[in-house]
Amino acid sequence: MTDTRPSPVGASAVAATQPDASAAGGRDCVLRATDLVKRYGDLVAVDGLSIEVRRGEILGFLGPNGAGKTTTLKMMSGLLAPDAGSVEIDGRPVRAGALHGSASVGVAPQEIVIWDSLTCLEQLQFAGMMYDMPAAAARERATYLLEVFGLEGKARKLGKTLSGGMQRRLNIALGLVHEPEILFLDEPQAGLDPQSRVLVREYLRSLRGRMTIVVTTHDMEEADKLSDRVCVIDHGRLLVMGTVAEVKGRLGGGELFEITVDADVTEALLPFLHRLRPTCTLSADGSTLSLASTQPAEAVAEVLREVAGRGLLLVNLRARGATLEDVFIDLTGRKLRE
Ligand SMILES: Nc1ncnc2c1ncn2[C@@H]1O[C@H](COP(=O)(O)OP(=O)(O)OP(=O)(O)O)[C@@H](O)[C@H]1O
Ligand SMILES: [Mg+2]
Repeated sequence: MTDTRPSPVGASAVAATQPDASAAGGRDCVLRATDLVKRYGDLVAVDGLSIEVRRGEILGFLGPNGAGKTTTLKMMSGLLAPDAGSVEIDGRPVRAGALHGSASVGVAPQEIVIWDSLTCLEQLQFAGMMYDMPAAAARERATYLLEVFGLEGKARKLGKTLSGGMQRRLNIALGLVHEPEILFLDEPQAGLDPQSRVLVREYLRSLRGRMTIVVTTHDMEEADKLSDRVCVIDHGRLLVMGTVAEVKGRLGGGELFEITVDADVTEALLPFLHRLRPTCTLSADGSTLSLASTQPAEAVAEVLREVAGRGLLLVNLRARGATLEDVFIDLTGRKLRE
């Protein structure tokens, strides 16, 4: 295999007090990425991204396909050199391919990286020893992680004989084996069954405060359950960053109204609501209009007047909390990425 797991990088305490949303908000900042840029030919994959990660938090790193998440994670974890900008962990610069240091970084890459010819136990033990763990300690840790990830029955099986979801779990365990200070997980939940999702989520939650975790996922519910803070990036730029509640609160203070009528709202209603546009976020899904506004009472009344005026039948009206998916779609649009 090609080992894309990073080597340890250096450490010393540093605090951050920048006021913008990407900053650690005065909290202890373990990682600071500043003005990161990565180009592939003409394509700017990461376009001046600055992010601060708080010590001990779980940061959900969100964005559409091709937004630049994996590229950013690779630069933050020292696997890829940025074209411009810098990354510091504990105040020390991360240099791509750096070999030695005292703090450590763990990575579970999006592409599963395991050794075909080693058993599960050997993989984890070997990975621990690559990080200078004594053989016995690495074996003990390997045995523990196999149990954590429900793979104890596979200890003596070759990695390549595991199912896809089991390989994914082993891939996560490999990033954790040396108890890194910061763990980067690139879509750790991809391909996992519901039981495994819960298991992985609960284990990661149990590490909160002890380990800093930056995790990408396309599952907005998972991001909601797992993360302390989230950020959304697109086209290599930061769109929003904050606690899950803060980010949801961007849409109508966190409350949405759904108005269902007896017609397709895209044709029958939406074109006649343009005067609401400046203060409202409106979206259509079949016969349901979703509305978020800082002045919801007036906005809903206006929609209902339009419904009545156009001779439409009101089928349902309900309020619900905004979800991360609502915010994500609002920020990044409905268009598929090439
Ligand atoms: N090695 C590479 N060579 C050329 N282009 C690349 C390379 N790696 C990534 N890209 C491009 O950079 C952009 C960002 O890719 P990246 O993998 O960081 O996105 P992502 O947010 O992780 O997407 P996904 O959700 O699909 O994993 C994409 O347009 C991608 O095609
Ligand atoms: Mg990716």
